[in-house]
Amino acid sequence: MIRIDKYLADCGIGTRSEVKKYIKAKQITVNGALVSKPEEKVDETKDDICFKGHSITYEKYVYYLFHKPAGCVTAKQDNVHQTVMDYFPEDIRAKDIAPVGRLDLDTEGLLLLTNDGPLTHHLLSPAHHIPKTYYAILDKEVPEDAVEKFKDGVDIGDDKLTLPAELVILMVSKDEAGKKMYSAELTIHEGRFHQVKRMFEAVGCTVTYLKRLSMGSLTLGNLSKGEYRKLTADEIAALQK
Ligand code: URA
Repeated sequence: MIRIDKYLADCGIGTRSEVKKYIKAKQITVNGALVSKPEEKVDETKDDICFKGHSITYEKYVYYLFHKPAGCVTAKQDNVHQTVMDYFPEDIRAKDIAPVGRLDLDTEGLLLLTNDGPLTHHLLSPAHHIPKTYYAILDKEVPEDAVEKFKDGVDIGDDKLTLPAELVILMVSKDEAGKKMYSAELTIHEGRFHQVKRMFEAVGCTVTYLKRLSMGSLTLGNLSKGEYRKLTADEIAALQK
């Protein structure tokens, strides 16, 4: 049994105080009877709970893939900058989702948000070495021996060398202004603070743009910057392996 206001908030109907207003407005019924108090208990496995006449199904865990733009912080709250949460409407935020891991303020790309604590723990656990692939633009040509160095592990000033990582140096191209552009894709299997930037610094390059393309089996695909979508059941199952 669970309190009706908690249940409805968990379902994403609104915040607890919004739910209270819906109860006052006689918009919630349980098995056809109007609910009068937010503390009323319901059996979420059996009762027919309706909001504005529509049956509600309980979704305990939710999973969103988000294309983080630069300029917002990977946090639930921040006093200075926009946060990734600002891109989600109140009914989704009410489900208590949180980012899985972090991307820097100026990093773009794939970010998973969920309220599934055990999965978050699984994905962030150093023991699992979930691969994460980044696309980076560098200030200069990446030395070819960086491929071998990254494979062996590099010293980025921590107690330990980085775990073996896969570097693919991309063809030199030209930006819109015709200036040479040096880029690479790097797959790492851990998540240290500023890890990608520090690894490139270790081979003499500065990252000028960074975007996460994938995390485990999840890829960003053609999701536009600032957009999010729900994960499919197959994507969720693959993450749990
Ligand atoms: N590595 C970094 O340096 N920054 C990120 O945002 C993610 C990985």
